[in-house]
Amino acid sequence: MGDRALVMGTFFFDERLIDDEQGRIDNEVNAFTPHDCADRSFVTSRLDVTCRCLMELDFMTKESQPSGPDLTSGVALTQFVDGKLLGHVGEQEVLLVQDGSEIFAIAAHCTHYHGPLNEGLMVGGTIRCPWHHACFDLRSGDAVRAPALAPLDCWHVEKRDNLVFVREKRVGLIQRGKPPTSAPEKIVIVGGGAAGFAAAEMLRRREFRGSIVMLSSDSSAPVDRPNLSKDYLAGSAPEDWVPLRPDSYYNEAGIELRLNSEVVSINARHVTTGKGDQVAFDRLLLATGAEPVRLSIPGADQPHVRTLRSLTDCRAIIDTSKTSPRALIIGASFIGLEVAAALRARDIEVHVVAPEKRPMERILGPDVGDFIRALHEEHGVVFHLENTVTAIDGQRATLKSGRTLDAGLVVAGIGVRPRLALAEKAGLVTDRGVQVNAFLETSATGIYAAGDIARWPDPHSGERIRVEHWVVAQRQGQTAAINMMGMREKFAAVPFFWSQHYDVPINYVGHAEQWDEITIDGNIRARDCLLKYKRKGRVLAVASIFRDLASLQAEVQMEDEMIQSV
Ligand SMILES: Cc1cc2nc3c(=O)[nH]c(=O)nc-3n(C[C@H](O)[C@H](O)[C@H](O)COP(=O)(O)OP(=O)(O)OC[C@H]3O[C@@H](n4cnc5c(N)ncnc54)[C@H](O)[C@@H]3O)c2cc1C
Ligand code: FES
Repeated sequence: MGDRALVMGTFFFDERLIDDEQGRIDNEVNAFTPHDCADRSFVTSRLDVTCRCLMELDFMTKESQPSGPDLTSGVALTQFVDGKLLGHVGEQEVLLVQDGSEIFAIAAHCTHYHGPLNEGLMVGGTIRCPWHHACFDLRSGDAVRAPALAPLDCWHVEKRDNLVFVREKRVGLIQRGKPPTSAPEKIVIVGGGAAGFAAAEMLRRREFRGSIVMLSSDSSAPVDRPNLSKDYLAGSAPEDWVPLRPDSYYNEAGIELRLNSEVVSINARHVTTGKGDQVAFDRLLLATGAEPVRLSIPGADQPHVRTLRSLTDCRAIIDTSKTSPRALIIGASFIGLEVAAALRARDIEVHVVAPEKRPMERILGPDVGDFIRALHEEHGVVFHLENTVTAIDGQRATLKSGRTLDAGLVVAGIGVRPRLALAEKAGLVTDRGVQVNAFLETSATGIYAAGDIARWPDPHSGERIRVEHWVVAQRQGQTAAINMMGMREKFAAVPFFWSQHYDVPINYVGHAEQWDEITIDGNIRARDCLLKYKRKGRVLAVASIFRDLASLQAEVQMEDEMIQSV
């Protein structure tokens, strides 16, 4: 488990220490400007105080006393461990990576949330981040796979007398081919979320010179949605860390972002918004995401009964939480339980009502379900499982069991539905999602779909699947962007998602709707485990807690299987 767990242990046993250290972290973090640090690198959190925050603390401590040797003075190849050596150049931590006969010097931390790349996996000229599986090209530093979008810094390396010296920073490394001459002039993106933003960013990264109009029904520019149920909701990340890019980015990048613009229809070559604006396109990307399922019980329409999807939703929950000593979460889903953890970090009493016997059993199996329940109970969450809420009268919620619970804040996390109305109205083929081919093109030529709405032929499972994962949505947006420019790239990434509960990150690779066997390597309660979900002996998916390298290796193995099966 390494340093992360060791430092974590210290914090588990002394709450006062958490407070002291949080104060110190707050002071130190306030000294930084998030956007200067690539993709909101400094995500510290009271919610994850025993985990990510400590890694940040660890990182910040190391920033003032950077790790390892001074790489400008030279290091021997014999000092490398598993092809890597962590050191520093001035104040900046730098990772030396040996790939065959070549040595590369790259920034030591991922540009997504600052994951430690020295704990990552090298794969064919790239390095993958242990936390959320972003991937960087070693030669250029380019972020070749989301969730990281910004490149890593790189340095010149000189080999002399069996020593490796790191020299000055390298610039202008990322060489991009020009878009095909057949590239369209006008691309319209419907949706300002994970897929829509990643598509627009990739179009500009690949030097698409035509117009990009992004129409979003949201009132805010694209945000780091996963943060809305984690650090930001917990009160440990300031709001200016939530946007994926500062407002100025869109103008600078030539992306026309129109907020509060709901697209209501698609015609042959233009879309129409609810305000009556018509926007012409040569290629269209639909990335309308999903919307929370609403409760259909008496009292569900009261203002203190909320769902969580957008920044506006999150702000409303935070506002209501300020005057509510007790919250009721309906549903023990990922989002419901992340909200529970975030509200506990705000010292709010939290009750969770859900129909299932164990939280998350359907996705992760009974053992992880029991663990998750125990974990939340350790943090004071009260479960009312195998139960439902039948009515909410003012602050009083009545349960099927007959019990009543008073709560000034109710958050329903009972699932989401893909937003398909627009695609259906346009006559696109849908099947519990918008059907797309391997290139993410819908049944209409020139119209693509990505993210939570897309059902695509997944080469690993051999099935048409639709998932609700941040990284998948971003990667699909990127692939769709490349194909909209006139290239032909299949979407073949193995699905990945993560979830965070207090100090416990859960990583999941692959896709297993049903399995007939789960094997457990390690110990779930000790937070050191790798679970394999198998059908007929074949591993469909792998979930892990603090087994980041094994999770990356499982991802690579699944990719290899896909290549072999083609
Ligand atoms: C609180 C929360 C936490 C999450 N945490 C995680 C996590 O930890 N890990 C993980 O893997 N996944 C997580 N997810 C899921 C992840 O955020 C989604 O899978 C991802 O955002 C999907 O991206 P998308 O682009 O398809 O949709 P979205 O990001 O939802 O974006 C859809 C966009 O389309 C716009 N839109 C919809 N209809 C129209 C229309 N007709 N006209 C114009 N605009 C329209 C919406 O306003 C929105 O801007 C989380 C989701 C939520 C809500
Ligand atoms: S911190 Fe590297 S992918 Fe998230």
